Amino acid sequence: NVSNLTSEGRLNKVPGQHEYDGILYLPTTPRSHLESIKNVRFTSEDLLVATFSKSGTTWCQEIIYLISNGVNVEEAKSRPITERVPFLDVEINWAGITALKSPKLLKTHLRPHFFQTQILDNRVKAVVVMRNPKDVLVSFYHFYKSYHMFGPFPGTWNEFFELAKNKQLIYGDWFDHILAWWAFRSRPNVFFLKYEDLKMHPRANVAKLAQFMNRDLTEDEITKIVEATSFNTMKKNPSVNYLKTEDKRNNFIRKGAIGGWKNYFTVAQNEYFDDRYEIKMKGSGLEFTFES
Ligand code: A3P
Repeated sequence: NVSNLTSEGRLNKVPGQHEYDGILYLPTTPRSHLESIKNVRFTSEDLLVATFSKSGTTWCQEIIYLISNGVNVEEAKSRPITERVPFLDVEINWAGITALKSPKLLKTHLRPHFFQTQILDNRVKAVVVMRNPKDVLVSFYHFYKSYHMFGPFPGTWNEFFELAKNKQLIYGDWFDHILAWWAFRSRPNVFFLKYEDLKMHPRANVAKLAQFMNRDLTEDEITKIVEATSFNTMKKNPSVNYLKTEDKRNNFIRKGAIGGWKNYFTVAQNEYFDDRYEIKMKGSGLEFTFES
């Protein structure tokens, strides 16, 4: 059992977090809600943006929303992303989600077993965004530091890294998460998108996403989506940058770069992580290295 105090005696956990099936969740995702999610009935056109936190979820949410709304950038700007592509895991969103017309577009950080039967029966689509886990951790660290809803994380990067090592972060371990989704990779209704690919080849990947959603986009529409969802445009767009929300989680759109981990990981942390990566991913087909 990991102590909930850091080496310097600071509380290292998000207050109110709780464990369900061995994974930590925020208090906004209570056990009863997790249990009801297992009984949600989707349609084959409903789409989940299913990610580990900080992998480019918001970015992908905005792209798929624009694909689905006929590339109406102004309409997208008129309502916050939290309403347009709501976060399934948060209980208070429930009424809004059930009121949405199909196809529903939803964000989730849950693992696939919550939706397993429906994925296997083609009753829901999922776009899984994966990002270099080293950049994910650094991004998550900044998010923990800025997370005012439950009080910002008081620890250092090293203390945060220890939490990650011990699977003590919200939503647990990146490796377990991604491997659980990867098991569904050959399903026609599951699409894997790498953050780094989207960053380097946005046009091609927006087109692939549209194809997955059975939509045809013109070259002009692709240009519009790529422009509207570039890092700089999203950073200034109040409908996606969360700056207007109560808790000012402005680290949703922070740096948007590849390879920032190099400024945080110590040599030892990097070696630990590379070893872990090799062991966990061996034989999975996920042995590739990330661009950085
Ligand atoms: P950084 O903290 O590394 O900047 P999520 O939406 O899953 O919480 O992920 C947040 C991460 O995605 C943040 O990473 C954020 O800056 C990055 N991001 C958001 N919009 C982006 C965009 N349009 N282009 C590139 N990165 C983006």
